[in-house]
Amino acid sequence: MRPPPVTAAVRVRRAEVSDLDDLVALEESSFTQDRLSRAQYRKHLDSETALVLVASANHRRFLGTAVVFFRKATTIARLYSLATTPQAQGKGVGSALVETCEDAARSRGCRALRLEVRKDNAVAIRLYERLGYQRIGEYAAYYADGADALRFEKAL
Ligand SMILES: CC(C)(COP(=O)(O)OP(=O)(O)OC[C@H]1O[C@@H](n2cnc3c(N)ncnc32)[C@H](O)[C@@H]1OP(=O)(O)O)[C@@H](O)C(=O)NCCC(=O)NCCS
Repeated sequence: MRPPPVTAAVRVRRAEVSDLDDLVALEESSFTQDRLSRAQYRKHLDSETALVLVASANHRRFLGTAVVFFRKATTIARLYSLATTPQAQGKGVGSALVETCEDAARSRGCRALRLEVRKDNAVAIRLYERLGYQRIGEYAAYYADGADALRFEKAL
């Protein structure tokens, strides 16, 4: 069954250098550890093996971001990061970002998208399950604070 349609007004585009301030600010407000630095975002913007996406809607140009990594040796893409600004949460921005990541991975010939999520992140887990991600395992003490990660995968 297809997931429910996302808010029609949400648009997803590739991140640009002019998004760096917003990307870093959102990273800092969304995560307390294991954060991407400004230098890392800068590097990923120009990388052939990374894709940084930004969601916007109407006159609001920055509502969230997703980062996907590709590697030459594998057809499994990795959804490395996903975050929506607090004011925009619950409106389909996260779903639109994940679906665009899937489209991008498909068009690069990837057969699956994988991700890790904190075991205690119920909102994100529900989102991934609703979009058809299957639990494929877990990593104990994966995060810097010792939290466990659940691993999810979706066949594309
Ligand atoms: C997890 C996160 C990215 C979700 O982003 P989001 O933009 O709120 O995601 P969505 O709006 O697509 O989906 C969230 C919920 O809103 C609901 N929703 C979607 N569109 C909606 C709409 N138009 N109106 C109201 N609710 C809507 C969804 O059904 C979903 O609810 P459900 O999961 O109970 O089904 C966001 O909460 C976040 O940034 N959290 C902090 C960082 C984080 O934890 N990232 C994940 C790391 S793995």
